[in-house]
Amino acid sequence: KKPVGAPDKKLARPVTKVGVLGAGLMATQFALLFVRRLQVPVVITDLDQARVDKGVAAIHGEIDTLLGKGRISQDEANRLRALVTGTTDKADFADCDWVIEAVFEELGVKQDVFAEIEGIVSPETILATNTSSLSVEQIGAKLQHPERVVGFHFFNPVAVMPLIEVVRTPATNDETLSTAMVTAANLKKNAVITKDSPGFVVNRILAKLLGEAMHAVDTGTPFEVMNRALTPLGQPMTPFELLELVGLKVGAHVLDTHHAAFPDRFFQSENLHRLAEHGRIFDRDAKGKIKGF
Ligand code: CAA
Repeated sequence: KKPVGAPDKKLARPVTKVGVLGAGLMATQFALLFVRRLQVPVVITDLDQARVDKGVAAIHGEIDTLLGKGRISQDEANRLRALVTGTTDKADFADCDWVIEAVFEELGVKQDVFAEIEGIVSPETILATNTSSLSVEQIGAKLQHPERVVGFHFFNPVAVMPLIEVVRTPATNDETLSTAMVTAANLKKNAVITKDSPGFVVNRILAKLLGEAMHAVDTGTPFEVMNRALTPLGQPMTPFELLELVGLKVGAHVLDTHHAAFPDRFFQSENLHRLAEHGRIFDRDAKGKIKGF
């Protein structure tokens, strides 16, 4: 069934080489998905060689895990490894027809990185952003061709979560939107087209849940009580486990963005900002099992 708001599939452009800007947690996960599902070259970059090497090593590690689980053959593992290249030279993106960014979640950083890449790629190259709560329209606002900008928002863990939010801005053209929808289908994900509004669809709801949970802690209910109370809600993770999964800095940023847009409806959390500085809520043992707070 055609997704709501999707333009004609015939408008989709082929994706023959993918460029990934950023080599962190989300970028490496979806780089692997692109290479595995589309079987095209994927080039990945970051600020320096150390970050690039770490990102490529993370992708290789996931390929080894798939091989170890018998999900892919040795030949397939070799082919996937050969298709992934790390670089610090953005000129290597020149022949990409799809570029997706997952760099630092700050508007100016994302605008700059797209402006730089626009000077390198063809005017028709799709520029997709994995932003979780910034305005996609603003991310593309300084470009000469904002009509090829689209939101393409994955969820963590990318290999498991079935959804991609495809965000259309007033500037996004039908060719771009169609390419995004066909690409999402080729990645074997469900895609929905959302409005370019804070949190899109999923994070708007999640920010409410996570913000209320943190607010209860901020106003005196211990983490331990909240975590135990929320465990039986039928979710695979409590709000605090989910915050650790997405990263406390990302979580705090999502809450801040929602609070800025709707101050009367969303909480910010001082505790979350404080905890984000040292990266975790829970004490865990060497296997990652929760020992306490
Ligand atoms: N990368 C790749 N695969 C992963 C993974 C990861 N980081 N984490 C788990 N998996 C895979 C495992 O390998 C396993 O796969 P196989 O069955 O093929 O072996 C499968 O997921 C299940 O894993 P586990 O049995 O270890 O653990 P589980 O059953 O407890 O599930 C979970 C783990 C899938 C993470 C589950 O707890 C869950 O769904 N949690 C909620 C996740 C969620 O809501 N994510 C959205 C976050 S919001 C976001 O991302 C948006 C944003 O902008 C902030």
